[in-house]
Amino acid sequence: MTDDGGDSDRPGSATDWIDPLERNWLRFSIALLVVFSLAVGITGFVLGFQVPGEHDRVDPNTVADSGPFSEPGIQQIGSGEYKVYMLAKQFFFEPREITVPQGATVTFHVTSTDVQHGLKIQDTNVNMQIVPGHVSTLTATFDEAGEYPFICHEFCGLAHAGMFGTLTVEPEGE
Ligand code: CUA
Repeated sequence: MTDDGGDSDRPGSATDWIDPLERNWLRFSIALLVVFSLAVGITGFVLGFQVPGEHDRVDPNTVADSGPFSEPGIQQIGSGEYKVYMLAKQFFFEPREITVPQGATVTFHVTSTDVQHGLKIQDTNVNMQIVPGHVSTLTATFDEAGEYPFICHEFCGLAHAGMFGTLTVEPEGE
């Protein structure tokens, strides 16, 4: 009889009779699960990355009737800080022209009243999908004066190509 084991001399610990290579893969897989769980937990609950919640939901049919989106435009909320409420609709942005001073930090809140649009502001990190029923939010700082064209980058109908606008950053001291 060989000594690598009939049932009669099975070793005490259940893991002793798993192939060592396989055991290491099991450990590796479990460690990965722990790492992923920690990563998701920390980004979600410590750093606050959450998927859009109820507060970001709007009714696309009524969003322009009352509340901040009934008067789309720019508001100053602090020293050098602004927020923009913007509507995307077939086939224009409201507002279409935005002017901010150099160095301004601008938070964009954008929603659609009809179909899906996109908003990309050239030379910035602002590049988002505008989905009816949701408010897309992103913040950008404009340190360099100049004109920043923005476009709709999601095909939204026949006049999609005409859906654009301009953000102007005015040089300091003017
Ligand atoms: Cu709006 Cu394309």
